[in-house]
Amino acid sequence: MQLKNTLVRALKRFAAVGAVVLAAVSLQPTSASAAPAPVVGGTRAAQGEFPWMVRLSMGCGGSLLTPQIVLTAAHCVSGSGNNTSITATAGVVDLQSGSAIKVRSTKVLQAPGYNGSGKDWALIKLAQPINLPTLNIATTTAYNSGTFTVAGWGANREGGSQQRYLLKAQVPFVSDATCQQSYRELIPSEEMCAGYTSGGTDTCQGDSGGPMFRRDAAGAWIQVGIVSWGYGCARPNYPGVYTEVSTFASAIKSAAATL
Ligand code: ARG
Repeated sequence: MQLKNTLVRALKRFAAVGAVVLAAVSLQPTSASAAPAPVVGGTRAAQGEFPWMVRLSMGCGGSLLTPQIVLTAAHCVSGSGNNTSITATAGVVDLQSGSAIKVRSTKVLQAPGYNGSGKDWALIKLAQPINLPTLNIATTTAYNSGTFTVAGWGANREGGSQQRYLLKAQVPFVSDATCQQSYRELIPSEEMCAGYTSGGTDTCQGDSGGPMFRRDAAGAWIQVGIVSWGYGCARPNYPGVYTEVSTFASAIKSAAATL
């Protein structure tokens, strides 16, 4: 399934940009792929700065939607149902910290209808609630613009290694029209783009499933995106592509209510 999705993506990307290195284009979490890359061009996050950030054992990021449910990317999981194979690590920027909170999964819910293109969201139910702040998700398009923050333990450069310490970076919104000039396969209603025309700052392999967020009108963090895919990492004219959370907010909330 993951392989097929990756192949589909790779073929699409091939069609989009011509002769490219297929390996550079990947929706795979790092455990399933040789290609790496977390936050490129980032800096260390402070302990407690993004308390709802979660690292998932398959090599993805996530965010606490509720104390017992992690929001991540559909391409980070292999389907829906009972699943005790995933460990969520939370409460620390240093994954090797002795104070890390580690909780197992009990269930996974992959976005209904997910087939490798768009709808890149999933929920993971945890065995116990984690007593940390949660991250609200955007329910309207009101915050789908401006400058966003991204964070993750993924590669710090294309082909780089996973990180021990949480990295963060800021990336500007890129319009669907502009983004479609780079990615003809973009699904504008389900995906949004962010990054600099000149590249240099981006999410990367291993950041998938993690949140893209900004401040709302009241100054609270709000999640507007989920790290999904891109052509390589931080390349000029190839922004990162993120699941458009507002599009799926009601589906995410009703799915969460079933877990
Ligand atoms: N698919 C990657 C992962 O599984 C995330 C890629 C993000 N790429 C980007 N250029 N923003 O970790």
